[in-house]
Amino acid sequence: MYRLLFEHLLARFDAERMHQLGFGLLRVLLAISFVRRWLRGSLVAPDPVLTVQAFGRELDSPLGLAAGFDKDAVGYEQLYALGFGFIEIGTLTGEAQSGNPKPRMFRFVQHRALINRLGFNNRGSCAAVARLARPRDVPLGVNIGKTKLVAEEDAVQDYVASAERLGVLADYVVVNVSSPNTPGLRNLQAVELLRPLLAAVRTALDRVSPTRRVPLLVKIAPDLADEDIDGVADLALELGLDGIIATNTTIARAPLSDEEAARAGAGGLSGAPLKQRSLAVLRRLHARLGTRTMLIGVGGIESAQDALDRILAGATLVQAYTGFIYGGLLWPSTLRRELAALLRARGFQNVRDAVGRG
Ligand SMILES: Cc1cc2nc3c(=O)[nH]c(=O)nc-3n(C[C@H](O)[C@H](O)[C@H](O)COP(=O)(O)O)c2cc1C
Repeated sequence: MYRLLFEHLLARFDAERMHQLGFGLLRVLLAISFVRRWLRGSLVAPDPVLTVQAFGRELDSPLGLAAGFDKDAVGYEQLYALGFGFIEIGTLTGEAQSGNPKPRMFRFVQHRALINRLGFNNRGSCAAVARLARPRDVPLGVNIGKTKLVAEEDAVQDYVASAERLGVLADYVVVNVSSPNTPGLRNLQAVELLRPLLAAVRTALDRVSPTRRVPLLVKIAPDLADEDIDGVADLALELGLDGIIATNTTIARAPLSDEEAARAGAGGLSGAPLKQRSLAVLRRLHARLGTRTMLIGVGGIESAQDALDRILAGATLVQAYTGFIYGGLLWPSTLRRELAALLRARGFQNVRDAVGRG
């Protein structure tokens, strides 16, 4: 039903407007905390096979919402009510910015894919403080990036400013160096630039949160060469990073035709076409790190089987964005239920038992 409606009606309209409309509606419908609690209670039955310890908390599902959906942290409670185990807000930058000119988000329904070049449109890390400061039960990651107008040599300070503002409010912080839509950003993945950046953010987090160690993760691109993936893995061990998120969107275009690719232009491709590459990056990280550094698998996850494949490949947690767009509002709770059944069918007691067992 949702799929039919999506393919024939919604897909005709501008993707970003539809996102804003749908998300706006969800926020209004679930504005009251009682309604959210009721909905989550109806959709999500606690299940020990799905319970997983991460970021010093107990999550009731390993499936989280990936960064970019709720950049400004305006509806994370509503999204959590749908059955996700955790929500990652952002990317938030040091300064507010409007992002790239529109249109900048494109659907490819046949490929179950999206291309976006939003360019970190967000109200800035300062503005998010008030929205994150209220009491909550939502496990929340805060993804931070570089303001476009900030020079590359001042990037560290921009990330540090956001980390200082938001660190104490986050269950974990992600340094995003992998969006293809901020010029020069992905250069920060080179180990010699990434090391001082992550070290500075770590120091900032320890300074603002001396009593609770805020977990720090890095999010990488699927387009890195194998030796660069290994370099990030080694750096994670060297710096004692708490996790790596693999992966962001890709600049590759297969299996889109030249005409389809030209319709969208520049940007990051997400969804089904990203599945195999994201899985390969995850496997490579796991081969190097084992379970010493927590891995979060993201990119093209559409089904419980996809989620299980990531867990078997070494991910403790998984995330999705595009699969949720195409799957609809019941998708997180359905996937959760189906994943529990798959884990049980394979004889696993819980998610941790299955990590890296593929
Ligand atoms: C429209 C859109 C906006 C995104 N914005 C961000 C962002 O701001 N920060 C980020 O780290 N990732 C962002 N992403 C990447 C997703 O978090 C995710 O890593 C990627 O889309 C692959 O997962 P998927 O195939 O499940 O969508 C965005 C993705 C999409 C489709």
